[in-house]
Amino acid sequence: MTRGMAGTVCRGCNASGRLTPGGAGAAATARARRGRVAPGPDRHIDDDGATARGPLRGSACTVVLTGPAVPVVRARNLPRHVGIIMDGNGRWAQLRGLARPAGHRKGSDAVRRTVRAARRLGVPALTLYAFSEQNWTRPIDEVSALMALLVEFLQSERDEILDNGIRLRAIGRIERLPPDVRAVLDPLVADSASNTRMILTLALSYGGREEIADAARKLAERVAEGSLAPRDIDEHLLGGLVPSSMPGDLDLLVRTGGELRISNFLLWAAAYAELHFTDRLWPEFGAEDLYVAIEAYQARDRRFGRVSSSDVASPGEATHGCNGPTAPTDGPA
Ligand code: FPP
Repeated sequence: MTRGMAGTVCRGCNASGRLTPGGAGAAATARARRGRVAPGPDRHIDDDGATARGPLRGSACTVVLTGPAVPVVRARNLPRHVGIIMDGNGRWAQLRGLARPAGHRKGSDAVRRTVRAARRLGVPALTLYAFSEQNWTRPIDEVSALMALLVEFLQSERDEILDNGIRLRAIGRIERLPPDVRAVLDPLVADSASNTRMILTLALSYGGREEIADAARKLAERVAEGSLAPRDIDEHLLGGLVPSSMPGDLDLLVRTGGELRISNFLLWAAAYAELHFTDRLWPEFGAEDLYVAIEAYQARDRRFGRVSSSDVASPGEATHGCNGPTAPTDGPA
């Protein structure tokens, strides 16, 4: 598919749509060429062949991915906001006798692949945990390597981000980032601010508890100056001040690297997120791993505290349009 192209046509059924997913790689290309990806009322093949996996919006087709051991991703009920804890760079490097920064470098290739795959699928918002507040305590060489990779990534992806209508955001204590990172980050955030096709948020010097504390402080300041009554504070007011919730509540939280923790990531937005853990180390994460996670998400029954998911007006609606769940929050989901 041509970069920046506004639409595409399924070469199987001629349906047209706005976005073409892809990035499945050579194995998937081979599968498609062997005929295991078939067009049909629910399937599309784009001009890349095997990379044709995803919604062709405006058409009747919804199923986009198929083949042996390959998940099926449906265009309807895509998670609107996906967050990823990109874990396992260090172990990937150590397993190969390399220094940890080598793992981070490979990890930044996985970031490129994943952003591209999410964009092509039509995922509206992706938040990546690139550097936590706690990561500042790592050895100085590792921190420097991560910052250098960030600069490199922002420079190399600038055109792709702008050409594809991606809005880049940064959340966290970005004032702690070195000047050379800010020098590439800030202009890209500003230049992409009016883009609407996808919101890509980098969590940098980020902590979930920290951003909730920051929001609470803002409310406390309003109370202190007399413009807000404590009784008017609710989850919507507080949630509206939590930057990570700006794209909407998190629908799907993915963690690579085999650990079963949330590690202070998107604590507010993840209140009703579906969790997906994979042993895959982040440097090896790719489009198919994202599809697997989304397929698992699509099989979940999201009840938002209710008895049946059918009580929820439409998938995702209960978690978007405001910064807190519309479902009752006083019971387990
Ligand atoms: C956790 O793995 C990962 C990080 C602390 C950094 C994530 C950074 C990248 C993926 C690359 C740079 C980012 C961008 C956006 C270009 P770990 O090192 O803690 O892994 P381990 O648990 O195996 O030690």
